[in-house]
Amino acid sequence: MSKSLERGNFGTKLGVILATAGGAVGLGNVWRFPYVTGQNGGAAFILIYFLCVLIMGVPVMLCEFLIGRHAQTNTARAYSKLANGTPWKWVGYMGVLTAALIIGYYGVVSGWTLQYVLASVTGQLHGTPDDFRAYFSEFSTNPIKPIIWMTLLVGMTHYVIVHGIEDGIEKASKIMMPLLFLLLLVLVGCSLMLPGAMDGVEFLLKPDFSKVTGKTFLEALGQSFFSLSIAMGCLCTYASYFKRETNLVGTAFQISIIDTFVAILAGLMIFPAPMSVGVQPDSGPSLIFITLPNVFEQAFGSMPVVQYVVSLAFYILLSIAALTSNISLHEVSTSFLSEELRIGRRKAATFVSLMCVIVGAFCSLSLGGWEWAKLFGMPFFDLFDWFTANICLPLGGFFTCLFIGWFVEHKIIHDEITNWGTSNYHFFHLFVFVVKYICPLFILFIFLHQLGWV
Ligand code: PFF
Repeated sequence: MSKSLERGNFGTKLGVILATAGGAVGLGNVWRFPYVTGQNGGAAFILIYFLCVLIMGVPVMLCEFLIGRHAQTNTARAYSKLANGTPWKWVGYMGVLTAALIIGYYGVVSGWTLQYVLASVTGQLHGTPDDFRAYFSEFSTNPIKPIIWMTLLVGMTHYVIVHGIEDGIEKASKIMMPLLFLLLLVLVGCSLMLPGAMDGVEFLLKPDFSKVTGKTFLEALGQSFFSLSIAMGCLCTYASYFKRETNLVGTAFQISIIDTFVAILAGLMIFPAPMSVGVQPDSGPSLIFITLPNVFEQAFGSMPVVQYVVSLAFYILLSIAALTSNISLHEVSTSFLSEELRIGRRKAATFVSLMCVIVGAFCSLSLGGWEWAKLFGMPFFDLFDWFTANICLPLGGFFTCLFIGWFVEHKIIHDEITNWGTSNYHFFHLFVFVVKYICPLFILFIFLHQLGWV
């Protein structure tokens, strides 16, 4: 049996797209993109975001794809294989570490979405704005409840992971992603039918170039990297399960288009409702766990059945987006451990799941229960978020570009992206140029800016 068959592969083209898109489409699409867009000039921002995805996102994604597919192994070993004993291999290890850290806090927030599914089912999401704030604050700082939900979410992730690539990740994505698209479309429809919905659409889509500043470009680039799951080992790990026939360039474009499309639809789903009831939208956990339940109450309160269905559909959608992203993060560590320690997939997955629960519990307790669990004045939860998004992600992207642009033999790159000469790729030289100079310079600039150095 060939090595790639032993590790498993995605079985179909659709499976590749849905699983990889499932990893990319996550909470970031829903709670951050719409808000950042509204704040930064609507369609003007979306235009800049498109450019960032096209000029930076797709090339860096392609770099990760070709490293993973070439090596057909976990992210750390994939970089090591191409690094030929040089320190470039550490970039791969950093990807694995980043994924392991992200899952710590991402898993906690994902668990919160499950609690809100239950709260929607049992009809608990009613009250005044202060009630919603109190409900969220009490729940998220409770030392026990969020840990139980996070453990349940890790359990669901574990269940998918132990079934392997084709029967686990691919099958789950083929069920969950169409459901996610369907729920999204239904919710966009409900939102657009609200009175005054067009104000929300205008806030999101009306181009206002006066709001575009240098910071807008940085926001767009940072958001595009997080949203596309770049530099976290996920894309490289999934690409190691792509077959030789998979067209890497086409796949990178398709994933980027789906991810961006979902983000824009999320904006159309979220913005009309607050605008129609005169509530100011915001971003992050407070948007989805405080503002939106209040908005559902105000917008649909006179039609209890509609409010029930909208609220339930919204939190199921969020849980699916979160779950598929958690699966991609879990797979990075599972494939790493099972291949590096030469232990079975089930054993490795069990170890990773336990680690997720321990790190997640620590993050969750740092918000309530163990208030002393802080470093540099930040609860561990915030620290993990800050460190991964602002340090690991830009550094990982930066070194990945330099590695491919300056170190890896161009023949390998050419072979991978043209599928050994069987498909044309006219922009090969442009791709190498962008990866060598443009991407690293831009990423370095964002990195220094985030640290307040430029
Ligand atoms: N791309 C996901 C989102 O937009 O929410 C977040 C994410 C998933 C980041 C997986 C990193 C990752 F490895």
